[in-house]
Amino acid sequence: MLTATKNELLTRVDPGTPMGELLRRYWQPIGGASQLDGNPIKAIRLFGEDLVVYKDLTGRYGLIDRHCPHRRADMSYGWVEEKGVRCSYHGWLVDEKGHTLEQPYEDTTLPRTSAREGCNVRAYPVKECAGMLWAYMGPLPAPELPVWEPFTWDNGFREIVLAEVPCNWFQCQENSIDPVHFEWMHDNWSRRLKGSNSNDAPKHLKLRFEAFEHGLIYRRVREGQSLEDRYWTVGRVCLWPNGFYLGSHFEWRVPVDDENTMQIGWFFVRVPNGREPYVQETVPTWVSPIKDDSGRWISSHVINQDIVAWVGQGRIADRTKENLRASDIGIQMMRRRFFEEMDAVAAGKDPGGVIRNPNEAQCIPLPNMRRETNTQGVPLDKFEDDPVLRQLLREFRYHYGQPPEVRRSFEEAMGIAG
Ligand code: FES
Ligand SMILES: [Fe+2]
Repeated sequence: MLTATKNELLTRVDPGTPMGELLRRYWQPIGGASQLDGNPIKAIRLFGEDLVVYKDLTGRYGLIDRHCPHRRADMSYGWVEEKGVRCSYHGWLVDEKGHTLEQPYEDTTLPRTSAREGCNVRAYPVKECAGMLWAYMGPLPAPELPVWEPFTWDNGFREIVLAEVPCNWFQCQENSIDPVHFEWMHDNWSRRLKGSNSNDAPKHLKLRFEAFEHGLIYRRVREGQSLEDRYWTVGRVCLWPNGFYLGSHFEWRVPVDDENTMQIGWFFVRVPNGREPYVQETVPTWVSPIKDDSGRWISSHVINQDIVAWVGQGRIADRTKENLRASDIGIQMMRRRFFEEMDAVAAGKDPGGVIRNPNEAQCIPLPNMRRETNTQGVPLDKFEDDPVLRQLLREFRYHYGQPPEVRRSFEEAMGIAG
């Protein structure tokens, strides 16, 4: 249980809030680079700020205020040029630094005036990595963008999946340090949804949570497993500050504002042995629906099930009314670390996990239960022996709504297209 004050501290993300300031110290994934392929400018709301992300005609990315510095028209209805975005109202041109470069009427009639003074807008650096766009919204200089080891793997089919989740980010992230929910939400509930009448998923028998530089690790033993199992010897990573890493995919819970979260997943499936080299020209990005036609939350896929839990906790979970127990030790550790890191930022320090040394950021290994599978690969006829690969060959089990063209590219990559 938390006090209302502490709950506010963990959940509020606007500029100037302690958590908003902390999370702004890290590069955040904000979508797939391929989302800008059709229309190179897109409105986006992040951390309570209305912005546009764009790619200009020279390939430079920008993330700037959604409102034009002139009279605040919507820049997402402007267009990109060689340098920056031009507002469609009176043609002002703004670049990726937030500087107004052109004011057509003033430039024509009042040359060499100071008309551009005071016309800068908010602007944040954007980088592309692993097919995703990343933004840094904190004080400059920006730290290094961490290149997690899986981003360096080749011969894999990757896809990026977004879901717009109408609740606060922190309850989504608490799910990253919650092993027991797999037994109930993903195993027993899935079996019930398919008609089972019993709760016969293997029980959790033992849990351990540990802190490390880039987050927390949880280890678990379930019925039928032992202390030799990789779920115990390696474990899974609650990635600091708002990610989750499970060996073949990442998830991030990026605050849109206090009451909305963008769930972003990055998924990797290595092609079967014999199909190398496989080079993926572009990484597809798609948005997963979370409600069905009747207005109910979709519950058929793994992360859709998680979303049912998150939104069910309320727009902002009321932690004054909860009862944490033994399965929640990791959640308590995570909250404690957030409070410590907020204090560190308030004291003017870099919080944990921020990387300033470029060499350190190049290929950062994480505890990984599936490194061998994902780097060496397995022959197609052995996919059946691996519970994750077996299911993925049949369907994309994580999110509802994979577009048919993405499925087709996946099947072609795997060599199973009909
Ligand atoms: S409002 Fe954008 S140029 Fe006038
Ligand atoms: Fe889950």
